[in-house]
Amino acid sequence: MKYLFELSKEHKTLPKAEVLACLRAEKIDCKIIESNEDVLVIKVDCKEDKIKRLADRLSFTFFIDRFLFSCSSTIKEIRKKAQNHTVEKKGSIAIKYKNRSNTVDSQLILQELAEIYSKQRNVNLENPDIEIRGLITDSNVYVGMKTAEINRSQFEERKVQHRPFFSPISLHPKLARALVNLSSIKKDEILLDPFCGTGGMLIEAGLNGVRVIGSDIEDKMIEGSRKNLDFYKIENYELYHSDIGDINKHVKKVDSVVTDLPYGKSTTTKGEKTDKLYERAFKNISNVLKKKGRAVIGLSKKDMISVGEKYLSLVETHEFIAHRSLTRYFAVYEK
Ligand SMILES: C[S@@+](CC[C@H](N)C(=O)[O-])C[C@H]1O[C@@H](n2cnc3c(N)ncnc32)[C@H](O)[C@@H]1O
Repeated sequence: MKYLFELSKEHKTLPKAEVLACLRAEKIDCKIIESNEDVLVIKVDCKEDKIKRLADRLSFTFFIDRFLFSCSSTIKEIRKKAQNHTVEKKGSIAIKYKNRSNTVDSQLILQELAEIYSKQRNVNLENPDIEIRGLITDSNVYVGMKTAEINRSQFEERKVQHRPFFSPISLHPKLARALVNLSSIKKDEILLDPFCGTGGMLIEAGLNGVRVIGSDIEDKMIEGSRKNLDFYKIENYELYHSDIGDINKHVKKVDSVVTDLPYGKSTTTKGEKTDKLYERAFKNISNVLKKKGRAVIGLSKKDMISVGEKYLSLVETHEFIAHRSLTRYFAVYEK
């Protein structure tokens, strides 16, 4: 079966990497059929339920669809492809689309899809049994049958200002969720954030059924994280007031580490030079990480990526421009 992931396009590399890391976590082998900033089309050999469940954890994808076809946006081509890719499932139908192109006219495409797919079916725009989705880009049209929609409003609802304890040091929940996903963590496994601050990573992992451990050098952060985790009714957590150098006193082995290292501007390093702190961080993270486990680390300097390579193997990096004077690098490592 082929599936189409409608990527959010908010970042060049992260949305695709997030999907692939989740497939890896759920042990779903896939072959990439098509991949660009708009979509990821994959071929898998597994039950649809397994793919549907990915919607509960993804953050940089809008929809997951059963892939029908893709082609150039000419009506002739769309008609030919749609006639060859009919839908067997019975029931009412709705045709929906998203036009990401400024040059392609969506109305004719919509009409064509409607003519072919709504034939001899009831149209129900509110609550259809089948939703055919067209994604229009400058170069192509992608057509699929909706399998699942990602609830993206939840990430806005969990923004830092809505939490009992907050500080601007915490990343947007959507980004925190994607970083947790990049670690390929699974439900019931153990994830550690040894620079947990207000608990942003722990919240996103905890809400997905992951057992979370957080630690921080600041007592107030630990108390704040506790308030936040309780607020979201996350039960399976442990919190420790600890310098990164003492983390092995509290934690044995963990499946993943996801953390955003302090960068010494608005987040304290307690006077320690970031270079020295990062070196200590990588060494201690590597010590507690299980073999083959992944660590996703937020860094403020590009050259720090190679410090991590002294202790772990680099898998990929994602550059993120937070604002004009702050670029973050999220590096994924494997032990
Ligand atoms: C960028 S913030 C983490 C923000 C966090 N992701 C959140 O959601 O709020 C970095 C954290 O590292 C902590 N920190 C600084 N030096 C540390 C050290 N040596 N050991 C452990 N934590 C430290 C700071 O107190 C701060 O809370």
